[in-house]
Amino acid sequence: MKAVVPAGLGKVEEADVDEVEPAAGELKIEVAVFSINRGETFQLENPPPDWRPGKDIAGRVVRAAPDGTGPVVGARVVAHLPHSGWAERVVARTDQVAVLPDAVSLEQAAALPLAGLTALRMLRTAGSVIGRRILLTGASGGVGHYFTELAAASGASVTAVVSSPARGARLLELGAETLVYDVADARGPFDLALESVGGESLTIALSKVGAGGKLIWFGEVSRQPARLDFFDLFAGPEGASIQHFHYTSSAAEGPDLATLVRLVETGRLHPELGRIEDWSATAEVLEDLRDRRIRGNAVLTLGKGTAVTSSKDPKTVVTRYVEAVAAGDLPTIRASFAPDVEWTYPGDLPLSGTWRGRDAVVDDFLGAAAGKLFSSDVPVVIRLTNVLADGDQVFAEWTAQATALGGGAYDNQCSGVFTVRAGQIIAVREYTDTDHARRVLFG
Ligand SMILES: NC(=O)c1ccc[n+]([C@@H]2O[C@H](COP(=O)([O-])OP(=O)(O)OC[C@H]3O[C@@H](n4cnc5c(N)ncnc54)[C@H](OP(=O)(O)O)[C@@H]3O)[C@@H](O)[C@H]2O)c1
Repeated sequence: MKAVVPAGLGKVEEADVDEVEPAAGELKIEVAVFSINRGETFQLENPPPDWRPGKDIAGRVVRAAPDGTGPVVGARVVAHLPHSGWAERVVARTDQVAVLPDAVSLEQAAALPLAGLTALRMLRTAGSVIGRRILLTGASGGVGHYFTELAAASGASVTAVVSSPARGARLLELGAETLVYDVADARGPFDLALESVGGESLTIALSKVGAGGKLIWFGEVSRQPARLDFFDLFAGPEGASIQHFHYTSSAAEGPDLATLVRLVETGRLHPELGRIEDWSATAEVLEDLRDRRIRGNAVLTLGKGTAVTSSKDPKTVVTRYVEAVAAGDLPTIRASFAPDVEWTYPGDLPLSGTWRGRDAVVDDFLGAAAGKLFSSDVPVVIRLTNVLADGDQVFAEWTAQATALGGGAYDNQCSGVFTVRAGQIIAVREYTDTDHARRVLFG
């Protein structure tokens, strides 16, 4: 079977590896999606012999545990493995998996384990956070998004340190109270600081903790050790403690994974899928993660029953996309577009012109329409009324009804010519009544 293996100097390549078979208490999963974590980029720099990367996967059980324990063949599952997950098939202990309900996609599930378990267990380690002021560094990554949403829902006031407004916008939606673009600008004192950047960031974060507070130290993404001066701690954080945190525990991962899945299913946790690619792009995605070009989690699909590849038929792809917009299903919306998609909107409105790239189309163009032009108090209703296909071109008509921020009723008819390549939309030419849009949305 095929797998992603270390290729030296932090790089990876595809290789044929031996098939694996489950022993008692283990099952075999056909992997549909895996995710990449920052820690794996570190491990790849100095990989142990016979080690392969891959901790977080989602897919289908293809062989149940020989002793009859765990999920049955065909079950959709998420698993957290010690390693070797970036492969077509993996073996997992039955206590390392959780079964997925239909409402949780394989992409969402694959993004959950390491980052989600870390956020969940760090929140437990912090204890009750209701009414507490929390400073979170490195907040725009996978752990940061999960922690922010869970802590805010538990009543904490979260100040998130990110490198730009664009990297923090989603954190505000998930409940962060304040963004700062430099830890030195965070206004303390904080009851708790969560630090994963290292170097000066740790030193400064600790200086923002109030007397008797705590700093939970859970990473060093900058790879710079911190320097501490005993006497500086009399300036505020007197009596504060520093707690080293590592997410593993003696407990099996299954129950905590099931908790994360339940939170996603019930709309209380939102995996932030900053990048969805085919697994042939694993090497490039690793580089982008290293170079801070990915927000939230990065997931790689193997083309087995995921939203991206369950059908490559152009008409189905466009129908699924418009239905995902109607349902507010962001992972499927993202997965529907190729990374280099272009969307052309007519007229001379602020939205008019050609939007290039998946992030610009989803976050800046569609996101601006949903988040900044329409009122969030009234649902946006999208109805697909017609779809015609000719080869890789699909013509779709839909209606859009919403309430503008200014209170006006937006009720428009829209159509678009979509071009689909390899199961993803690569271009859209939209036509709509821009005069109505101008009067209601920009009047
Ligand atoms: N202790 C544990 O058990 C545990 C478990 C999982 C992860 N971790 C650690 O927790 C941290 C976050 O993990 P993650 O998976 O969320 O990582 P991630 O997705 O890569 O996010 C880390 C974020 O840190 C920010 N950052 C600030 N300074 C940076 C620098 N010098 N280099 C790179 N990024 C920098 C980046 O955001 P901006 O560009 O917006 O600043 C980046 O998005 C990592 O250090 C990871 O190793 C620890």
